[in-house]
Amino acid sequence: LLYQNKIVKIVLIGYMGSGKSTIGKLLSQKRNLEFIDLDDYIGQAEKMSVSDIFKNKGELYFRKKEYEYLNEVLAQNDNFILSTGGGTPCYGNNMQAMLEKTENTFYLKVSIPQLAKRLLKEKDERPLVRNIPKEELPEFIGKHLFERSYFYNQANKVISCDGKDPQEIVTEMESILI
Ligand code: S3P
Repeated sequence: LLYQNKIVKIVLIGYMGSGKSTIGKLLSQKRNLEFIDLDDYIGQAEKMSVSDIFKNKGELYFRKKEYEYLNEVLAQNDNFILSTGGGTPCYGNNMQAMLEKTENTFYLKVSIPQLAKRLLKEKDERPLVRNIPKEELPEFIGKHLFERSYFYNQANKVISCDGKDPQEIVTEMESILI
């Protein structure tokens, strides 16, 4: 297959809780490609977790670093699967930068009720939803997703993830990898 002879850069985008890290890890194992989680990468480079960066330095500082490290990763002349943060495509020219470096940008699309269900379980690690009351979460996600969809929909491929297990999603992605 062609992909074995050329550099493969795969970028996963999508809302918080859409499964970017889970799917990215699975696909990287299956394809034997390096997996990079942008939030972890930022956390290691800054020696501080993303939630502590938000708390101690503020979101603006985080977005600046996110931009810098995204471009550092994209510039790698090697195979990788990158899972981004939910906001990554939505700031500066990040989306453009991703589209310029690869034709394998995937938007993992998940419905609002499904996102709400998942985020409810992992709310505390996510600075942007931590303080949203449980009953307001679906409405918050709906508005936020509406704003962000403009960017997410610029992905090369949109994968509808509802009702599919991770293996199925990975298989679907493999069938359309360039
Ligand atoms: C964010 C999503 C987070 C993380 C930060 C901001 C966002 O990543 O980058 O908390 O703006 O949606 P996940 O999508 O992995 O939760």
